[in-house]
Amino acid sequence: MDLTGEAASHPIPPRDRPEPGRLTAVTVGEQVIAVANVGGTYYAFQDACTHEECPLSDGDLDGHVVICHCHGGEFDVRTGKPLDGPVYRPLRTFGVTGDGGDVRLML
Ligand code: FES
Repeated sequence: MDLTGEAASHPIPPRDRPEPGRLTAVTVGEQVIAVANVGGTYYAFQDACTHEECPLSDGDLDGHVVICHCHGGEFDVRTGKPLDGPVYRPLRTFGVTGDGGDVRLML
């Protein structure tokens, strides 16, 4: 958010975009955001797992589910909802706009 309360957009350069079925981490200022590619649609959420803060971008992606590599916590990348494992707090999620040429994170 900027000072007006509006979401600020940050481009995700092509080199930082994950391939379908993969995850990457994108750093914007001091924030690290995980980006998932599910069948060509991008989803963005906090990279730190809500259990013990392991980076979710190092985890696995199974459809719309990200699986934390530390203790197996699972979240829905579309909503941040915890699904299984030792996690009970949701992830913060962020909007992603655009396709192909200009993909942007909304923070
Ligand atoms: S840190 Fe992710 S499940 Fe424990």
